[in-house]
Parts: sequence; structure tokens; C-alpha cells
Amino acid sequence: MIIGVPKEIKNNENRVALTPAGVAELKKHGHKVYVQASAGESSGFNDDEYVNAGAETLPTIEDIYGIAEMIIKVKEPIASEYPLIKKDQLLFTYFHFASSEPLTHAMIERGAVCLAYETVEKSDRSLPLLVPMSEVAGRMAIQEGAKYLEKPSGGKGILLGGVPGVPPAKVLVLGGGIVGTQAAKMAAGLGARVVIMDVSLPRLRYLSDIMPPNVTTIMSNHYNISAAIAEADLVVGAVLIPGAKAPHLITRDMLKLMRPGTVVVDVAVDQGGCIETCTPTTHENPTFVIDGIVHYCVANMPGAVPYTSTLALTNATLPYALQLANKGWKKACNENEELKKGLNVANGKIVYKGVADAWGLELSEVDAIL
Ligand SMILES: NC(=O)c1ccc[n+]([C@@H]2O[C@H](COP(=O)([O-])OP(=O)(O)OC[C@H]3O[C@@H](n4cnc5c(N)ncnc54)[C@H](O)[C@@H]3O)[C@@H](O)[C@H]2O)c1
Repeated sequence: MIIGVPKEIKNNENRVALTPAGVAELKKHGHKVYVQASAGESSGFNDDEYVNAGAETLPTIEDIYGIAEMIIKVKEPIASEYPLIKKDQLLFTYFHFASSEPLTHAMIERGAVCLAYETVEKSDRSLPLLVPMSEVAGRMAIQEGAKYLEKPSGGKGILLGGVPGVPPAKVLVLGGGIVGTQAAKMAAGLGARVVIMDVSLPRLRYLSDIMPPNVTTIMSNHYNISAAIAEADLVVGAVLIPGAKAPHLITRDMLKLMRPGTVVVDVAVDQGGCIETCTPTTHENPTFVIDGIVHYCVANMPGAVPYTSTLALTNATLPYALQLANKGWKKACNENEELKKGLNVANGKIVYKGVADAWGLELSEVDAIL
């Protein structure tokens, strides 16, 4: 198959969908890979590395869309890319169709085959192509929290791990899923006293088994959260209710329970945030202060560490990309339910319920197009 990797053009997107290692793997299976010039530069991969791995570089995005049967990307195509997409061209990338009606209509009109990273799903209902970004964001939450706890950044001026003779900081993690687990591990590793809360007792049992002794698990409820935020130096929001807005576990009037200079990192801000006062911020201007509480609410945290994020993402996407390239999308989806769940739009039809529901459009049977 002929595979094309365009340079991401969405504002502040520094990741790339394929590494030189990925190119070598696809080449090994007999595929031809074209990478747009400088596509990997912001992630730390230069054109020579791609060429040495067996790719050819092409100067423009038009060249890439023009030649490829399968486009592998990171973010959804933006409006200037719509006219470049050819009928029956396979696009394997994050789409998040439910947040963009124009994108949905554009992909239907272009006749593209859209396989969305975010809906590839395993039989245990986990989302293997979202997990790596949650892992990055969870680990980053502590790094960023530690930075904003420093006095010049507006925080209390407390060192997360303390020093001999001085107690470490207290970290509260709301939600013990992927983000929360990684955040708790990082905070514990730095020596903080960590509390992790979740509503799932089986999850708390699991966390209690695997976490080091400086992590305590507590059931998440209003009473326990109110008590914990009064003590916390850093609060990480990591709650997710699939398909719904995040619940506001810390409301505006609860901020007064917290001490000035406390930092909240609301990783769940992309789903509305679990702290009521959080609104999305960017890496250029990541924080704001309300009632003395420093809010960090960057909606695309992994974007700040493109090298790590690119490797984490491509480790997860490459095995699926290989199946698509080796078998073609129809056979690959027929033989792999996980990939089939990733199909959102094909043959000018919507085949994923969440997308059809989001825009009140007709849903077609996925098996009918395979
Ligand atoms: N800002 C970013 O850059 C970024 C990056 C990656 C992920 N995220 C977001 O982070 C959030 C968490 O993602 P995840 O992968 O860890 O999800 P996950 O499904 O693995 O974990 C969510 C956890 O929240 C728990 N939960 C639900 N209701 C709760 C409540 N009332 N109190 C406490 N816990 C509760 C669930 O039981 C679950 O364990 C999502 O909104 C995700 O979109 C943001």
C-alpha cells in the first residue's frame, strides 16, 4: 500500500503520526511510505532519518494527499485539507467527529474512509489509542503541578518531596483511572503524601494493592473531597464518565476551603473539567488564579512533550496501521473487531452511532459496507 504522512498543520500540534522506526516496519512488509518534508522535525526526527529508514520525502501536503492510499495523521484534517482528500482514501487519525459538524459533513462529501483512533476499542471496552495520551498527561500533571507550586509561579512555595526534617507536600488525585494512576505514581515517586479518590471500590482495591505506602486510597464523595482539599497543596482532576461531561467535584464555593497558593491541575478539562472554575487554557498561557487558587487547565497537555507523545502514540497505532496496510481496510476491519469499532465514516455514510447521534444524521450498518 502507498502510505502518506503529512505534516500536522493544526495550531501548536508538534506530533507526527509515524516515526522512522514505523517507516522501517512498514517497508519491511513491502509498503511504500511518503513523508512530507520536515513533518517530524518538531518531534525530533529529521528528514534524513526518515529517508534512511526507507521513506521518500515530498515537499508539499498536496503531494502527500495526492499520492497516498492511506493517510496516517495525528489530528483531524482542518478545513484547508478537506479538498485534498480523495474518494475512498483511508484516513487513520484522531477525528473527534462529535465535536465538529463541518468535519463530519466534509468527510461524508469527500467519500473518505475515516478510521478514528479514539473509537478503536478492545473487548474489555478500553480505548488503546487514547491510553498513551492519558499516560503522558497523568505524568505531566505532577511535573506541572510541582512547577506551579513554586512561589514565582504563584504557588505556595512548597517542594513536593520536602527535605529531611520538613514534611512533603500533600497531593490529592480525583479519579483513579489511567491519568490518576500515573499522576499518583509520579507524585509518590517524588516523595509527596498522596491521596487518590475514586467511586469504584474494585479500582480502589487494585490501587491500594499496587501503590507505594505513601499513597492512600479513599472513596470519592462530597464529604471526603471537602475534607481533603482543605489539606491539599496540589489537586489533580482526573475523572471521566464515558460519554458525559465531567462532574464538578469541586464547586466554586468550595475554593474557599482551600489555602491560597494551592494548585489545581484539571486534566479532565477536555470533558468540561471536574473543578467548576476550570476553563481550557493553552501552553502559551497555561494558568489563571481564582480566589488565590492557581488553575492549570491545558486541554492538550501531551502537546508540550511531542517527542514522548509521538513515541507513545505511534507505539500504540503502528500495529493497527500495519494491519490496515497489509490487508486493506475492509479485510482488516472484518478480521479485527477493535479496528471495526474505529470506523466512523465510509462510502459517504456514517457508521458510528455516537457521530450520527451527535448531529442527528442517519446511521448506516457498518457490516453493510464491509
Ligand atoms: N488535558 C489533556 O491534555 C488530557 C490528556 C489525556 C486525557 N485527558 C482527560 O483526562 C480524563 C481522565 O482520563 P482517563 O484516561 O484517566 O480516564 P479513565 O476512564 O481511565 O479514568 C477515569 C476514572 O474516573 C473515575 N470516576 C468517575 N466518577 C468519579 C467521581 N465522581 N469521583 C472520583 N472518580 C470518579 C472512574 O471510576 C475512573 O476510574 C478524561 O477526561 C480525558 O479526556 C486530558
